[in-house]
Formats: sequence, C-alpha cells, structure tokens
Amino acid sequence: MAEQAKVSAETQDTEQIVKTVTFHILRYDPNRDAKPYIQDFQVPVRRGMTVLDGLVYIKENLDGSLAWRSSCRMGVCGSCGMFINSFPRLACQTQILHLESNDIHVKPMPNYDIIKDLVPDVMPMLMKHKSVKPYVIRDDMEELESPTGEYFQSPQELENYIQFSYCIKCGLCLAACPTVATDDEYLGPQALAQVFRYNRDTRDAGNEERYRLIDRSGGPWSCHFAGACSDVCPKGVDPGFAIQLLKRDMLLHKLRLKKRPGPAPVMGPPEKAERRPNIPEPPEPTV
Ligand code: FES
Repeated sequence: MAEQAKVSAETQDTEQIVKTVTFHILRYDPNRDAKPYIQDFQVPVRRGMTVLDGLVYIKENLDGSLAWRSSCRMGVCGSCGMFINSFPRLACQTQILHLESNDIHVKPMPNYDIIKDLVPDVMPMLMKHKSVKPYVIRDDMEELESPTGEYFQSPQELENYIQFSYCIKCGLCLAACPTVATDDEYLGPQALAQVFRYNRDTRDAGNEERYRLIDRSGGPWSCHFAGACSDVCPKGVDPGFAIQLLKRDMLLHKLRLKKRPGPAPVMGPPEKAERRPNIPEPPEPTV
C-alpha cells in the first residue's frame, strides 16, 4: 500500500508543470527558405522532460512541420545529436531542467549540411567510417563466414579496446572538432577511433591494411588534439585519446619497433560439452 502511494506521488510529481521555457529552434527547408531562421515556441516543462520530449510537444501541439531525427529515446541509436545551448548533445539525454535556463536554443549539429530543420546530413561521416574497414578482417575468411568455433580472446585483451567499441555513431564528436570544421578531407574522430578499436582487437588481422588507408593527409596526423571530441562523447569513448594512441602505434609500426602477434586462433568446442535440457535450438541463420 505504502509502495503504491509512493509510486502515485512520483507519477503526480512528473505530471506537474514546473515552468514554461522558450525553445528557439533553427528552421530551414531548402525547398522553401532562402536561408535558415529562428522560430520560437513556448513549451510547458515537467520534471524529467528531455529536449527531445520538448520537440515532440512542439510537433504534436504547435507545429507539425518541425523535422528532426530520433529513434530509441534512450541514448543508444545515436540519431538525435543536436546543438543545444551551444553544445553538441543527444536531445534524448538532455533534461530541460538540467540546462538551468528558460531559453533552450536548438540547432542542427555544426560541420554537417542541413537536410531540413534539425536533420543533419550524416552521410559524409558514415562514408568515412565505412572507408576505414570498421570490421574484423581475417586471412581465414572462410572461417569468418562459417565459424566452427569462437576466436580466443582473454578478458584482458577485451579490456584493451572495449571502451572504444561503445561508439554509437551519433556524430557529436565531428560537430565539436575544429579540424573537421576546416578540413573536408579529415577522416574525423569517429572513424579514427574505430580504426584504433579494430586494430587493438586481437581477433583482427587488418592493421596494415587500415594503416595504408589512413596514413595520408586527412588521417590521424591532421588531429591537433583539441580534445573537444572527447568532451562531447555521450558514451565515454574518448576518441581524442584513441587518435593519440593510434598515432603512437603507427609510428612504432613504421619504425618496426612493434610487432603485432598473429590474430587470435579459433577455439575448438569445449570437451564433453553437453547441451542443457530444455534449451531450445537456435534459429537458422538468416544471412
Ligand atoms: Fe536514440 Fe537519442 S533517440 S540516441
């Protein structure tokens, strides 16, 4: 009973309007507008309401033509990156009350072309990401296609790169990067951090191939280590740090001072393994 009363009090608390804020939103429809402009909306705020919730309120109640990109609402899909009160943030992870302001300025992420309103064109970032081969490369591609067992990797080897595998491709790091702002060729913190992530993965044998792809103008040597990418990363990937470690690894590789051990071998099935009863069979592979 007491628990029910507590839940009901908390529900009432989140339904109560705490204050009204003004959203100043950059609007731009390339088919209609000569240039971007700012439009204001009054939004009633409840406790726990995010900037994304504010945009949903505007779309449902004030202007159905407002465009942005979002999906998961929980900081996982990486699609709601925006420039909120002069800082690149995920709209679904930014609580309006935490901004401690009655004015919420929302613009699309800098360093990207605008498709419409708050929707940036992230295709250049994705193409750069793809260009560095962000996947496990093996000599035994047949084994990769039809695996006979797991690749051996110790917990310590996993620790070496797991932080850099948390990237959700939100693109906030590129929005904050001063080098991206001035150099179209620069691969950017997202792609370079993924090079480091896969090069550090002991299951991978694609180091040399990736070094060949990035050892050029626009590669890691263009990074000035401003560190802004790491400041804005919502997942703690720290791409700035990854790029510096990548530079060190490349240098050691060039000077032949560091030899990478061969890629992890395939582990055979455990001896005397028996399927536990009542565990259903896995479904057939779909690809
Ligand atoms: Fe998925 Fe914000 S909606 S990260």
